Amino acid sequence: MIVQGTRWRKVKDDRPQSLAEGKLMQLTMAGRTLCVVRMNGVLRVLADACPHQGRSISGGWCDEGHVVCPFHRFHFDPVTGKARHGVCSNIEVFPLEERADGLYMGFPYKSLRMFGVRIW
Ligand code: FES
Repeated sequence: MIVQGTRWRKVKDDRPQSLAEGKLMQLTMAGRTLCVVRMNGVLRVLADACPHQGRSISGGWCDEGHVVCPFHRFHFDPVTGKARHGVCSNIEVFPLEERADGLYMGFPYKSLRMFGVRIW
């Protein structure tokens, strides 16, 4: 059976916690290049690869509750990853939790389990 879950990793970079409202930054974690944005006081994390042409969105900006890709100005909801007006595919988003000892980012994974044993 395929099992899906989330692996939580502590964010060792302090910059996201001091990110100003409406600002974006690039962060690399777990081999992924990510875009962190603070919107309405909450930190959100998106893949830093626009689904349109794969370019970095972390150089973009915020507009009406969306992150705007700086290349062709497609808009993405930082909570759901949905592309505004359905103009292209949705962008991947990642959960982020503020815990007592810092920020933790969640990365989805799939594994195969057979008879209660994890195969991969
Ligand atoms: S590369 Fe992002 S909108 Fe085209």
